[in-house]
Order: sequence, then structure tokens, then C-alpha cells
Amino acid sequence: MKINHASSNNFEFHKPVLLQEMLENLSPKANEIYLDCTFGAGGYSAAILKSVDCKLYAIDRDETAKKFAVKLQENYPQNFEFLRGQFSDAKNLLAEKGVSQIDGIVLDIGVSSMQFDDKERGFSFDSDAKLDMRMDQKSDLTAFEVVNNFDEEDLFRIIKEFGEEPKAKLIARKIVQVRRSKTITSCRELADIVRSFYFGYSKTDPATRTFQALRIFVNQELEELKKILQDSTHLLKKGGRLVVVSFHSLEDVIVKNFLKKCAGLDVVSSRYEPLKVKDSDRIFQIVNKSAIQASSEELKDNVRARSAKMRVAIRL
Ligand SMILES: C[S@@+](CC[C@H](N)C(=O)[O-])C[C@H]1O[C@@H](n2cnc3c(N)ncnc32)[C@H](O)[C@@H]1O
Repeated sequence: MKINHASSNNFEFHKPVLLQEMLENLSPKANEIYLDCTFGAGGYSAAILKSVDCKLYAIDRDETAKKFAVKLQENYPQNFEFLRGQFSDAKNLLAEKGVSQIDGIVLDIGVSSMQFDDKERGFSFDSDAKLDMRMDQKSDLTAFEVVNNFDEEDLFRIIKEFGEEPKAKLIARKIVQVRRSKTITSCRELADIVRSFYFGYSKTDPATRTFQALRIFVNQELEELKKILQDSTHLLKKGGRLVVVSFHSLEDVIVKNFLKKCAGLDVVSSRYEPLKVKDSDRIFQIVNKSAIQASSEELKDNVRARSAKMRVAIRL
């Protein structure tokens, strides 16, 4: 089935990235069970349900995702269930439904356009909204807490590690200096602190890296990813498919290295001592050697797809 990117999603807010490629690689079959770990506006879920008469569970930790899920539940009452929570908890959420093994898992990680565009959520640097950046409105830690209460060394570590920001030390120092005289409340105030170290930037706003770092830290995004990858080895049946779409290199490296390890491709061998991995030790077969990226047709329509990378593996 060929997907029309403009019309495939019932919801106008979020254009699903690599939708056709997701469907081809997940390859859903009738009567099988699938898990969409990142429901968002339901673009992936809707496409899966439309393609075949299967059972689909979808997880999202964002309360606002629920309103999109309600629509799908109305259209597919027997086929679809929404589970509010974190995908690191997928095993338990499925167990509560009496499900322990499934045929496919899809992840489209990162923020949704709705989260980013809703200024009140505090993800966007050109906003006077309070620093927040929580995907789950119920969680305790906000970007405001981190920026105003963490010490300089921790701020430096977060901005450097999760933002790969070359001026992390200067930025962390300045944050601590500024907050001696006033609380740093809004996204714009933080963005201006970062921008003060960059003159005449052209393309990418220099605040991007610091905001990315805080978002990853606040939502524990890399830990979440590592946990679901690990759990996918137990959740997937033999022949089950794992499809992961990520948007920056920190995530992609985790996915790539995990799959390489599970496919037995991370062993160091030499001419003199070739190491052989037994077939029985392999957990996944990698489907595409290089990550799948958006076509030029999709890029014309959706700039967000520019940095998307899809990796696919089959449970052995
Ligand atoms: C890029 S959007 C997914 C868009 C979706 N594929 C679609 O077609 O509409 C990512 C979604 O995953 C959710 N999310 C991110 N990390 C999560 C986690 N660890 N647990 C549960 N949901 C998560 C976010 O709240 C967001 O709604």
C-alpha cells in the first residue's frame, strides 16, 4: 500500500516521518500483535491499523496523546488499545493486558511537533513560557529545576554530554552567575544566555544544543531507549520485527551498537585469530546495513525528516 504523506495522518499537527518505510519494514500481518511505543498523534498507529486486521497496543507518556488515541479507539475498538506510560515499562504495561510476546515493535523517538509547537510546554527557545520540557506532565523534574538548582559541574556535564555543546563550560558558568541575581524562568532567557556566546550565527540557533541536552536529561531519553531495546529481545517472538526511528546521533549510535552486538557483529577478530559467533548466540538479524533515510520527495514536504534514521532488525 502506497502512503500519501499529506493525507495519511488524520491529524494535521504531526507529519509522521518515514511512514511508508516504517510500514514496509514492520510488515504487519493479520491477527498478529504489535506495539507502537511512541504513539504521538497516532500517525504510525493509524497506518498500521489501516493496513491489516491486527492487534495494536500503543504507548505514550504524554497526557495529550490520549485525545488522538480516543479517535483510533472509536474506529478500531477490537484492534487498538492505548496505554499511558513510559516505553521503558512496556513489559509491565503489556503484562497487565495478559500479553508477553508480540510480533513487532516500532519506535519513533523524540518530541512530537505538537509538543514542540505548544509554547506552554517549554521546549521551544523562542518562547516566554516557563522552562519545562517534560514529555510526561506528571513527572517531577522540569528544565526549570535543572537550570535553577543544579550545580555548575552538573550543568556542564549535561550540556556537554547530551548537547555536545563546545561552549558547555562557559554556558554552565554563566547560568550560575545569572541566577545569583535572578531566577531564570523563561525559555527565552535561557536561549539568550547561550546566544551571548555566539555572534552572527546563520543557520542553526546556537541554543538548539543546550535545549536538546536539557530535554534529553529531563526525560531520561537515552536511558529509556536502552531499556526498551533490551526489553525488545524478550518481548519479540522469533521472526518479530524491531523498527527504530531516531533523530540525532546520540540515539542512533545506541541503536546501531545495540543491534550490532545482538547480531554478533561487534566482535573484534584478526587475520590470525578469527572469532566466530555461534548462530545460537545471535539475537537479531540486521535488515539494512546502513540506516534508512527520508526520500527527496518526503524531504520536500517535511524538513523534520532531514535527520531521521531508521534501523530495522528481525528477532532470531
Ligand atoms: C516523534 S513523536 C511520535 C509520532 C508518531 N509516530 C506519529 O506518527 O504521530 C514521539 C512521541 O513519543 C513519546 N515518547 C517519547 N519518549 C517516550 C517514552 N520514553 N515513553 C513513552 N512515550 C514516549 C512522546 O511523548 C511523543 O508523543
